Amino acid sequence: MATASLLYASLLLCLAVLAAAGAAAAPPRLQCFEHPPDLKAGGGEAGVVVHDLAGYEAYVTGAAHSGRAVVLASDVFGFQAPLLRQIADKVGDAGYYVIVPDLLHGDPATLTVNITEWLMSHSPVKEAGKAKSIFAALRSEGKSVIGVGGYCWGGKFAVEVAKTNERSKSPIEILGGQNDTVTPPKLVYQYVHALRQRNDINYFAKIFPGVGHGFAGRYNTSNPFAVKTGEQALALMLDWFKKHLK
Ligand SMILES: *[C@@H]1O[C@H](CO)[C@@H](O)[C@H](O)[C@H]1NC(C)=O
Ligand SMILES: *[C@@H]1O[C@H](CO)[C@@H](O)[C@H](O)[C@H]1NC(C)=O
Ligand SMILES: *[C@@H]1O[C@H](CO)[C@@H](O)[C@H](O)[C@H]1NC(C)=O
Repeated sequence: MATASLLYASLLLCLAVLAAAGAAAAPPRLQCFEHPPDLKAGGGEAGVVVHDLAGYEAYVTGAAHSGRAVVLASDVFGFQAPLLRQIADKVGDAGYYVIVPDLLHGDPATLTVNITEWLMSHSPVKEAGKAKSIFAALRSEGKSVIGVGGYCWGGKFAVEVAKTNERSKSPIEILGGQNDTVTPPKLVYQYVHALRQRNDINYFAKIFPGVGHGFAGRYNTSNPFAVKTGEQALALMLDWFKKHLK
């Protein structure tokens, strides 16, 4: 029997956003919805966009014939972000078949969306349920081990996927930023505490100093410190995949 082990590196969870959306009529502007990437600044990508991966549009890159796949789940600005695709290419260079599905179905957030309404129509919990078809399609293509990395909205998505994976307890890595107000260090420590209590899940967590929300997937590429920190986060995700995607 082929065992599918799913693995989750959840970066920048936006759980706090989702709680706010449910509780408050007018939640404050959240860091999750700030500093959108320039979606037109693409080019030079190693991969291609496919139009029907289990019904999803997806950016696909990396080692097409590898038995190990990585699904990267975007933040609220979606799968077209150039930096996210560059990260996907780097994960692909490490030997994985990488897909970045359009989990937002062509409707990424913008600076002017009503966050409450946007989150209601883009629930990461519901999307994780729908995305089962993606994982089934990957398995049918011979991808026997699949990792998931998620940024912000995608981090919540990744955790939800992990919950639906009955076959194995997915090891989980959480990377946070010291100055993140959405997923502040305090919240990361709460996750760590919960994971430690469970005793049956392999986990790793780290808080990066001096960086805010979006430091891993949406950083300022003109700022050397931001670039260095973003690259360290990617290296830790790759280490995690290397260790657990076997
Ligand atoms: C956003 O949408 C919600 C739900 O429809 C509504 O209650 C709220 O007033 C809207 N906020 C703004 C700032 O328009
Ligand atoms: C991050 O937070 C620390 C501690 O509160 C503070 O000293 C530092 O100036 C902040 N850095 C940035 C870039 O906001
Ligand atoms: C990005 O970093 C550069 C160099 O530190 C800085 O000049 C620029 O203002 C930053 N851009 C944003 C949007 O923060």
